[in-house]
Amino acid sequence: MELNLRNAVVLITGASRGLGREFAIAFAGEGARIAICARDSTKLEATAAAVRQRGVECLAIQADLLEGAACQRVVDDTVEHFGRLDVLVNNASASVDTTPKSIEVATDAQVMARINGKMLVAVRCARAALPHMRKGGGGRIVNIGGTAARTTFRPGDLPSEGSGLAQGLGNSSLANFSKYLADEVAADHIVVNTIHPHLIRTDRHTQRVTWQAKKFGVSESEAEAQIAAQIPIGRILEPSDVTPLVLLLASPLSGATTGQAIAVDGGALRGVTY
Ligand SMILES: NC(=O)c1ccc[n+]([C@@H]2O[C@H](COP(=O)([O-])OP(=O)(O)OC[C@H]3O[C@@H](n4cnc5c(N)ncnc54)[C@H](OP(=O)(O)O)[C@@H]3O)[C@@H](O)[C@H]2O)c1
Repeated sequence: MELNLRNAVVLITGASRGLGREFAIAFAGEGARIAICARDSTKLEATAAAVRQRGVECLAIQADLLEGAACQRVVDDTVEHFGRLDVLVNNASASVDTTPKSIEVATDAQVMARINGKMLVAVRCARAALPHMRKGGGGRIVNIGGTAARTTFRPGDLPSEGSGLAQGLGNSSLANFSKYLADEVAADHIVVNTIHPHLIRTDRHTQRVTWQAKKFGVSESEAEAQIAAQIPIGRILEPSDVTPLVLLLASPLSGATTGQAIAVDGGALRGVTY
């Protein structure tokens, strides 16, 4: 399918590694022009180089999105460089896998970590992006949430040291914001959707395998097999399992799918979502 993303200007937050990096490379494969941001400028530049190798332009913007004006600056720099903004992928997120298991010992900062470190960052980036998308006649916003939006993960449910509370609060608030925004900007031809990944093989996965192996006293390959056994499709999900949906929702073809939240979970969540 031709996704019509050639020369589209795409900003991906948190794209120095993990899913964001894979998204950038996938958009490069479609001929898009790409801006990426993250805090670690060395990793960011390495990703930018990998993107440019695919023959497209890539602007690398070093930024800590938790700092007040950073989201606006990242959007402004992108538009100044490319002259427009067609797609925003809100992917950056604070890592919260070690949030304490009980709210009795979790601090306010730990409870709020992903609300501030993901949802609020997405709000700020979207706020900065909207005028440029309107000016360009429309746009696409893809928010990367997580399956913790749809269920509670109690301590021990996930291969993680902490509870799923901070993930749940952050991802569910992101999905709610996404739906709200979709309604607000629908008439401007801007569509907004959320993707909920589940246990994807990124750096976070490596930490999970180490933790699982330690918890059950097994080798890392046995721990990996234990995690895979919990996924109905029988394997750990790869970043490449998520990229096709990101590209599709970012495409000009997807003009009528808005306000939706779609999980990429290998069938792991049993709840029925209508
Ligand atoms: N992997 C999974 O299993 C999984 C499951 C569910 C949901 N998700 C969601 O998918 C998204 C990507 O996950 P991932 O596994 O690829 O995460 P990751 O490997 O931890 O990468 C996160 C990216 O965000 C950047 N980042 C973090 N904090 C930032 C900040 N304050 N300012 C700017 N950039 C920042 C990081 O770069 P720097 O550290 O250099 O800033 C990095 O590029 C996240 O929203 C995550 O919650 C992932």
